[in-house]
Parts: sequence; C-alpha cells; structure tokens
Amino acid sequence: MNNSTAHNIRSLISHRIPCRALVLFACAIATAMHAAAQAPAPDSPAIEAQALALLAKLTLEQKIELLGGVDSMFTHPVPAIGLPSLKMSDASVGVRVWGPSTSYAGGVSLAATWNPQFARKLGESLGKDSRARDVNILLGPGVNIARSPIAGRNFEYLSEDPFLNAALVVPFIEGVQSQGVIATVKHYALNNQEYNRHNVSSDVDERTMREIYLPAFEAAVTKAHVDAVMDSYNLINGVHATQNEFLNLELLKGEWGFQGILMSDWDATYEAVGAANNGLDLEMPSPRFMNAQALLPALKNGLVKESAIDDKIMRVLRTVLRYGFLDHAQFDAAESTYSIPDRAIALEGALESLTLLKNDGHLLPLDPAGVKTIAIIGPNAYPAVTGGGGSSWTQAFEPISNVTGIANLLGPNTHVLYTRGLPEASDVFRNTHWDGGIAVAAFSSKDFTGTPETTTVSTIDNASPQGPLSGEKIPRSIRYTASYHAAKAGKYLLLASASPWDGDRSNVIVDGSLLQTPPHAEGQIPPFWMLDLRAGQTIHVVAEYLPRVPGQRFGLGIAYEPDLVSDDAKKFAAAADVVVVSAGFTLETEGEGADRSFALPWGQDALIQAAAAANPHTIVTLTGGVGTDTRRWLSKVPAVLDLYYPGQEGGAAVAEVLFGKHNPEGKLPVSFDRSWDESASSPYYYPVKGGDTVLHETEPDGSTVDFEIPHVKYADKLMVGYRYWTTTGKHPLYPFGFGLSYTSFRFSNLQVPATAAAGSTVPVNFDVTNIGSVAGAEVAQVYVSDPSAKHSRPERELKGFVKVRLSPGETRHVALDLDARAFSYWDETAHQWAIDKGKFVVRVGDSSESTPLGVDLRLTH
Ligand code: BGC
Repeated sequence: MNNSTAHNIRSLISHRIPCRALVLFACAIATAMHAAAQAPAPDSPAIEAQALALLAKLTLEQKIELLGGVDSMFTHPVPAIGLPSLKMSDASVGVRVWGPSTSYAGGVSLAATWNPQFARKLGESLGKDSRARDVNILLGPGVNIARSPIAGRNFEYLSEDPFLNAALVVPFIEGVQSQGVIATVKHYALNNQEYNRHNVSSDVDERTMREIYLPAFEAAVTKAHVDAVMDSYNLINGVHATQNEFLNLELLKGEWGFQGILMSDWDATYEAVGAANNGLDLEMPSPRFMNAQALLPALKNGLVKESAIDDKIMRVLRTVLRYGFLDHAQFDAAESTYSIPDRAIALEGALESLTLLKNDGHLLPLDPAGVKTIAIIGPNAYPAVTGGGGSSWTQAFEPISNVTGIANLLGPNTHVLYTRGLPEASDVFRNTHWDGGIAVAAFSSKDFTGTPETTTVSTIDNASPQGPLSGEKIPRSIRYTASYHAAKAGKYLLLASASPWDGDRSNVIVDGSLLQTPPHAEGQIPPFWMLDLRAGQTIHVVAEYLPRVPGQRFGLGIAYEPDLVSDDAKKFAAAADVVVVSAGFTLETEGEGADRSFALPWGQDALIQAAAAANPHTIVTLTGGVGTDTRRWLSKVPAVLDLYYPGQEGGAAVAEVLFGKHNPEGKLPVSFDRSWDESASSPYYYPVKGGDTVLHETEPDGSTVDFEIPHVKYADKLMVGYRYWTTTGKHPLYPFGFGLSYTSFRFSNLQVPATAAAGSTVPVNFDVTNIGSVAGAEVAQVYVSDPSAKHSRPERELKGFVKVRLSPGETRHVALDLDARAFSYWDETAHQWAIDKGKFVVRVGDSSESTPLGVDLRLTH
C-alpha cells in the first residue's frame, strides 16, 4: 500500500455520518446522562449496503465460521466474498508476536506522562508498526483500573483514576485508528487482578462500576469510537464477561452505541448459547464454543436467533469495509519494522514518565564531571528491563540497560563498575547445604498416595533436577524432606520455586507449620519467606510439590540474608563516588497470569541496605507497575527514581534524568502505598471466605460442567487509591499525582465563577510559574469536591489536568473547562448521572495531596 492509499483509508475511517435515527435511542441516553460523550455515528449508507450485500452471499455455516478465530491471532477468511483474514497483535507497549519490535514506555508509563498528546503519538507509532507487519487489529489498549498494587497486569494498564485513564485512552485509540489499524480496548470489565482470573467474580455495585471501573471504556467507545472491545476472563456479579447481558448489550452496544467487534479474551468464552445471545461477536483464539456443532442445533431449537448471528457478522463486515481491508493489503512498505523514528518516541515516553520520588539534599542531578567512578548494581541494572511478563511483552531490537545508558552518557573518562550483586535463584538452590541431604519421595499418584520411589539428593534445583524422574514412573507428586542447620543468628531467606506459569503448586512446612503464602504474595515467583533463626538452630523442612504436568521443575534453598549480597557489590559501592542500585520487578516476577508480591523480589532489600551502608550517595531505581515495600531501606537512601517499565530506551532516559540532561517530569498515576495492609483494597482483595457459588455451564460437547465461583466483593466501592487516602485523611507513602522536579512551580490566580447552572460547563483559569532556575514540566491537576452532596462522595476527584513546559521564570496561563460529568455522581435510584446542587470546591495543585489553590463554586438550577 502506498502513502496515498493509507491516507484514503485513514480519511475513510473519519468519514462517518452523524448521529441518525438508528442510534437515536443511544444518543438520547447519552444526553440524559449529562455526559460530554456522544454515541458513535453509524457508518455511511454505502457501507451499510455493501455489508448487507456481502452478508446475503454467506451461508449460515459460513457465518458461524466467522465467529471464531484461527491460528491464534487471525480471524477466519471467506475467500468466496473476498473477505481476508485479519491479523492481530498485542499491544500497549509494542507490536509483539511478529518478531522484534520497538518497545515503548506504554501502559502505566504512559499514564505517568500525564500527556494526552504523547498518548496520541504513541498510538500513531503503534499503528505504523502494525501496518509494517500487516497487522489489522492491535489488541490494546488495556484500561483496567489499578485497584491493588499487587495486580499482575497493572503495568500494562494505566492508572487508578478513571478520568486520567479516559483522558489518555481516547487520543491513544485515535492515534492507532488514524493509521488504518483497529484498536481494541480491553479487558471489559472489572479485570483488576490476575488471581484466579478465569473463575473469579468481581462483585460490584452499579455506582462503583459507573464512576470508577467503566469510564475509560465508555470514553473509548463514545469519544474515540474504538472499533473493537475485548471481553475479560472474569465474571462480573456472577456472570462471565463474554455472556454478560448488562455489560455487553445494555451498556456497550445499547447505551454507548458501540458498533464495532466485541471479541473474547483468549479462551475467555465459557458457553456457546450464553455468549451468542449476550453480545459476543468473535471467540478468540478459536471457536471452541461458538461453532457449528453447538450453534446449528441452538439455532434450530430457537435458543439462538439467526438475526443475532447476522448482527455479529454485520459488525465484522462493516468494520472491514470501513477500514478498506477488502480493497487493500494492510502491509505498508512505507513503514519500517525496524524504525529509527520510533526510537525517539520510545525515548520521549521514558523521559516523560520517569518519576523522581525522593531527592534528599538535592543529590540529583549529578554532575557528570564530579563522578569519576560510578557503581551500577542490581538485578535490573543489566540487561535492560523493558516490560513486564505475559502477552504484552515485546522483544526490543537493542534495549538500553541502565548500565549502557549511564556509561554512554558519561563517556570514556568515567569508571563504571557493574555487578548483579545477588545470586540467581539456581545459585541459592545449588549452594544450600542440607544436613544429610534431601530425602525425595516421588509418587506416581497426584496426592502423595501409593508407594513412592525414594532417593537422597544433595540439592534440589529446578534447572538441573535430580532424583527418580525417568521411565514409566514420572512423578505426579513429590515430597522432599530435609534439615537445615543455621550457623549464625539472623535472617534467612527460604526460597521455593514452583512455576505458577506452568500451573505447578507447592507447600513448604517448617518444623511442622505450613508456611502460608501470605495473601500479598499470591503468585509470587518464586515464593520466598524470611525466617529468623538462632545460631545453632536446626529446622526441619518438608516441601510438597504438585507438578501440573508430570516432571520436576522445583527448586528449594536457604541462604543467610547477609551472605546473599555479593562481596564485589559491597566493594564497588564503597569505591564509587555514587551508587545506582537498580531494583524492582521483571517479566519473571510481574506479569500476566499471576499477581505479584508487594515486597521487592528476594534479596533486593538486603542489596539496597548493603549499598547504602557502604556509600551514602546511593540512588535506587525501581522497576515495576507501581507500589512496593520500601520500609527496610527508604530512610537510608537519599534518592529514589521510579522507572515503571520504561521500554527499550529506558537506560538512556535514566542516565539523562540522573545527570540533569532531562528534568524529571513523571507523576505517579497510582498512589504509592507504604504496605500492602494499608492499601485501600487489601481487605477486599481476595474472595470472601465460604462465598463460593456454583455455576453450571455447557461444554462444547453438550455436557454440563459445574464451576466453583469465588466472589471478590468490591466493598471498597469508590474508595480506590487517592479517593481512599483523601477521604480518610490518611496518607500513603507518595500520593497520586506526585513527582519531584529539579525546579519548583507556583500556582496562582485561580478563577472559577462563583455560581453556575448545574449541567453547564464551568471554566477554570489559573497561572503556573516556574520559580526555579532550570526548565521543566509541571502537571497542573484540578480536583473537584462536593461537600454538600446528599450522597456520600470521595473527598476529591480528579476532573482536569494540563501539562505545562516552562522556562525558568516563565508563567503560563491555563484555561480548561469542567463539563457536567465533573460534578456528577451515579444516582442508583434514578439510574442516571445526577448533580446535587449547592457548594463545590475546585482545587488546583501538583498532587492529590498538594492543592495550594481552592475556590468555592455554587451550582444552581
Ligand atoms: C491476554 C490478552 C491478549 C491475548 C492475546 C491473553 O492472554 O489476556 O490481553 O490480548 O492473550 O495475546
């Protein structure tokens, strides 16, 4: 495809005719909601006619074939009518699946930029990267709310705030779709944890859904006109997303007027008739349920109507026609798979997102001339950690690690000392000295029954398993029994590795007591515990391992914590002028399919403590989807820089920020909690005890299966993140919206009308001045409070923000509008958005807890 073809496709997408009779109902509801949003316009009559003509050529069997994906990442083609197979790829941080690609600072990093213009740019780049790879459908963005710091996929999503998510997702989607690529907003909906994601029901009241969990989806549909939506794995109020009438039919396709394709997440369909009748258009990655075997009889019996199938096919056909996929190949040789311009955008995202959390004594920025020797230590220092694990992970061409980025910036005259500083898990397993070895009992049963094969081994290492593992008796359950003698008093790390990615499970019992995986460590990989042992104490350890598939992928080891940190790490830290400890999570410890620990991965607390003890100029960089336990070392280090997952240029951006070539400007998109216990959702994160229900669903072969459904009650309701902190008057470690700069800003002259009619747009005006001596960017945040509300509301809510870039001494006037939704809440009795007239307060500042300006506003009839 040449440029002009691409241009034609892009202009075709924006040429939809305005709201007409077909969607009048949806438009009327949107207006009644006081929403600034508008339902998307339907396609032109020409597209409608063409789609109907194509539909008429399809047999019922061909239609049904179109309801399921093929080859994991494609839709079904129908060559007879010229319908191509649409190629897909994930998503928010890079176009993965089809070889190496640019890995951007996406997801939570994008949210930390607080920059809608950058979101548009990132969307456009991902669109171009998609076209270069022949990709028609990009399986992103993910917009689920970061309800808890341990949710495994927070890093892929955006923030804890619905307004910020909506403000970023709209330009992102517009950017992707402007390139002739379909964007897919996901995971619809309430998929806020990885814990038991196929079976868990998120039980949420409608007000909480409408105010917190749905606005980003709503904006994606009504404002960005997203052309695909992906249903999530979980259940919502007891009904799986893929067969949820309320979410799919009433809201998405009804009230919001969604006209695109509603697909399932991969293997998130659980029943044929339920899915077919409740809005699912496309079952991915294959038609396990929505196939001829299940649907033809259902159609015959009247359980499913052919009009429901036609509606699904029409959505696919209209979308394909709208994008011109019938006329042109998607592959565009005018774009690059290895793109030099992309690198600049990847760097821009990283620079805009890195968030400086602590900078005591103005240690930063460092003067490159004053650093003769720098120690860069830690598991995340090298190689580069670009993204978290799972389906978003993108193999970058040449990712820049912190070591490389800093060394490049400093040049040949500075000494760079690098060490990982900690052993690998397999080193811990191999180096553990078990008293008298480990007795292994390997059972061919799955429950430690029957006569085991037994042996004794010296260590248990998942990388090089030992023991009775061959022949017909491949073990299905293995018990390891051993003793460990603690030579010195102190903290010991007990490390066990059973891969949750593979579905393996294990229990560890010490001196007869089961070591509970603490709730906040769910899915932690590998699990670890700290034991306080006396000098000379011997402990008795039993590990019970249940591999999901036969075999042995288990490791077990114990290490004295002070011995974990390598000698060279201590030596390097002491010898250097300055130390950068690169700590945090990686794709192995944070990712899709499991939640992660609130604690840093094992050994890292000790590493930071050791570095700080050796050198007072110790800076910590943290990688992760926000929020980790810093209590053991925070007071001992002068500076902390949060990197989130900065993409392939991360190391270059870290260097620029540490050495003042770039003034940090990222702002926390998620409250940074002190501890898991303090986080607002922690009491309600796991399913209610004894609250399981049973769900009967019909399998593809017609048999009925009963699922145990655990229920997570979102009893924290609206009290998510800063809403909780500001309403309770308590304080997190670092608040939502917070981030330091090398300069300072002043807010002044806030002007808001004293009164305004409820439902009207309210103008907000103020000034921001850079009162420091270097250029920098500030995010001016506007929060609205409703102290006279009849219904209880969060103390304040973000309703506007602007990023301003200012030279020293420069003042910028900011003008923005607050629409009716900024003052509204969801009235559960009236089932609509409502405004309680009376007093409101509009506040302006640089975080949810720092709003130096505030004025009252009275909303009247
Ligand atoms: C993920 C989706 C992703 C899909 C295809 C699933 O496991 O949940 O987000 O788009 O895989 O890779």
